[in-house]
Amino acid sequence: MSKTIILALLLAQIITLAFAASSVTCGTHPLLNKVQSSVNSLVATDTSGKAKTKSDALFKSFTNAKPSSKSAADLGVCSAYAGQNSCCDKNIVKLIDQAALQKAKPIQTKSTVFQKFTNIYAAQANKLCSKYITNGPVTADAILKNAALTSFQALKTSQATCKINFAKALTSFTRGALCTVCSGVDKVNDYVNAQGQLKVTQDSVNQFVSATDTAATCFANIFTGDAFKATINELNGKYISDATCASSVLTKIQTVFTNKIIQNSDGNGGKLCKGTTVFGNNAACESLLQGDANLESNNSRLLRSEDDEMFRLLDASAAPDAVVDPQGVSVYTTSSTDSSIDENGSNISTSFDNVSTTSSEIIKAALALISLLALAF
Ligand SMILES: *[C@@H]1O[C@H](CO)[C@@H](O)[C@H](O)[C@H]1NC(C)=O
Ligand SMILES: *[C@@H]1O[C@H](CO)[C@@H](O)[C@H](O)[C@H]1NC(C)=O
Ligand SMILES: *[C@@H]1O[C@H](CO)[C@@H](O)[C@H](O)[C@H]1NC(C)=O
Ligand SMILES: *[C@@H]1O[C@H](CO)[C@@H](O)[C@H](O)[C@H]1NC(C)=O
Repeated sequence: MSKTIILALLLAQIITLAFAASSVTCGTHPLLNKVQSSVNSLVATDTSGKAKTKSDALFKSFTNAKPSSKSAADLGVCSAYAGQNSCCDKNIVKLIDQAALQKAKPIQTKSTVFQKFTNIYAAQANKLCSKYITNGPVTADAILKNAALTSFQALKTSQATCKINFAKALTSFTRGALCTVCSGVDKVNDYVNAQGQLKVTQDSVNQFVSATDTAATCFANIFTGDAFKATINELNGKYISDATCASSVLTKIQTVFTNKIIQNSDGNGGKLCKGTTVFGNNAACESLLQGDANLESNNSRLLRSEDDEMFRLLDASAAPDAVVDPQGVSVYTTSSTDSSIDENGSNISTSFDNVSTTSSEIIKAALALISLLALAF
């Protein structure tokens, strides 16, 4: 082979390598736009507006960053990408952690089907048996606080735990999705398929599906068979003095809840909480424990089974935007910040105060400049 050919081959090789190395920069990271818009919609509820300003600044730094190999300590909750040529730094992963926690707040402030049941019980008891309620009318608040209702109180406690675990599953799932922006520029094309879908591991999908299934089952069991009958009878025994009237309340409430109200199923053989709707609208899953949206309305037609099914199918329209792949990323990332998740969301305090927008690069440059100046004088 002549020297010219070898040189030409070498040159071609160098050009190819240079091209490959520069094909993904921080600003063209394929997951940047999806993650940034998810973070922005999550922090939109921060009324101080500080979070949005910080998010804008951090994503601007991200866009201009030079990818470099990051340690697990640098990547915090997103340490799964340690050792990769990442564009993330300590501050953007703090933002990601807090933004993921923000997912739980609006969900926890909504009533679960258990709280709705309490409201419906009070409404029906007052409507059907007002004559037989001593010191009436009965209120949902009074029921929730009544320590003499031992079985009901045990249920209230266990459903609260299930509600909390469900919210933790959602924040972990959200965090796993947001962390994908920290994947290395040299690796990210392995994590996204030709259709632009994120590849996720089966294990991480299973973790999410298992946690959400457990919560769904926990709630479904409350409204099933003899257990549900016993719960209603306990309330009747406490609030309604006439047995015949109490029995009509039992029948009415059982009718309202005839179909399993909580089911992690899209009515089409799939799950509502699939684990593969990563960046898309996942509202059908997120509102799972709230049950049928029309449960408390007076429109009894909507409580019939075929309409329930219709409601499920419409709700299940959220399309998966990820695929399971052994080479994929883990889309389930827990964090110590999740310990603040409580039943009604009042203990969840997302704080963006510790998220600094001054990048460490700038600090290092400033320190170097100061040392130079110090030397000069
Ligand atoms: C249902 O009807 C009752 C009176 O019949 C009314 O007080 C209540 O607000 C109604 N609830 C809803 C959700 O429309
Ligand atoms: C409230 O949040 C803190 C963490 O911020 C946690 O340690 C504590 O257990 C939470 N309390 C409740 C009642 O959930
Ligand atoms: C949330 O629950 C706590 C007790 O767990 C209670 O003190 C607080 O008032 C509740 N907040 C709301 C908004 O219901
Ligand atoms: C913020 O940082 C301070 C000092 O390091 C620490 O005491 C505080 O707990 C941090 N707050 C949050 C919400 O992480």
